Amino acid sequence: MTVSNVYEELFSLSGKTALVTGGAKGIGAMISRMLLRAGCKVFVTGRSRSAAEQLTTELGPDAAALTFLQHDLSQPEGIDALAAELDELCPQLNILVNNAGTFNAAPLGDTDSTSWNELMGLNLRAPFLLVQALLPLLEAAGSNADPARIINLGSIGGLMPQSNGGAYAYGCSKAAVHQLTRMLASDLRSRNINVNAIAPGYFPSDMTSGFFEAVPNLRENMLAQIPAGRFGSAEDVGGMVIFLASRAGAYLTGSITALDGGLLSAP
Ligand SMILES: NC(=O)c1ccc[n+]([C@@H]2O[C@H](COP(=O)([O-])OP(=O)(O)OC[C@H]3O[C@@H](n4cnc5c(N)ncnc54)[C@H](OP(=O)(O)O)[C@@H]3O)[C@@H](O)[C@H]2O)c1
Repeated sequence: MTVSNVYEELFSLSGKTALVTGGAKGIGAMISRMLLRAGCKVFVTGRSRSAAEQLTTELGPDAAALTFLQHDLSQPEGIDALAAELDELCPQLNILVNNAGTFNAAPLGDTDSTSWNELMGLNLRAPFLLVQALLPLLEAAGSNADPARIINLGSIGGLMPQSNGGAYAYGCSKAAVHQLTRMLASDLRSRNINVNAIAPGYFPSDMTSGFFEAVPNLRENMLAQIPAGRFGSAEDVGGMVIFLASRAGAYLTGSITALDGGLLSAP
């Protein structure tokens, strides 16, 4: 056997279909790019068509296997509309990446119930409702040997005890995403669906640019605290997603992996 055969056998996603929510920006775009390179047909959702057009331009010929579906997932109607459109477009779904998310933080006492509910609606309710709505497509794709895969984006903010400047709703939403991952994994492995979560540390995106603009010296201070000495990259998160989605990850379910260069896991 040659070396290249083992990569093909364990990590190829050729012929698979994936949906990446929020897949045109930030971490989602990193994941979409890598899934395309691994051979997937990729459906990408988001509210912004211009972000999808920019990603398509950057991808060049690789974008032929990408389809953008414009939906706002903050309300249940948007999720129903996405599920209905996907149902028309593909008979089965091998990989669902629940990536779309939002962040807010405010001192204790200043968090209002509207912003709490908006954040929870997108970060926690949307992944749950999307799994519910897409179960038939996921079950159609999965087999015992090659289960369908759900990959949820949690956060180290849902693992650490600190509020990080008052990110109460965000931290709670991500801790709940981790718990949702475990519960769904427990219910769905026997239905040929694996469910795992990635809990990123710091990756460059609009979300983290916002933190760095808001807090002087945060970028430098954060870099100094990351044992790996750098922020995460497309290869880091893309490699993890390819592992979780491929033959190599077929026996892994219910895991929550901090992908943080050691920030939380090896300080
Ligand atoms: N970056 C990090 O260091 C980091 C660390 C830990 C966890 N995470 C998690 O990783 C995921 C991606 O984060 P990111 O840093 O890439 O954030 P980002 O740059 O702010 O991207 C968020 C994505 O979610 C989509 N989105 C936002 N609101 C939406 C809505 N109402 N309906 C549909 N889509 C919506 C956005 O697309 P549109 O604006 O076009 O809708 C965008 O694609 C999030 O779940 C985040 O919590 C990120």
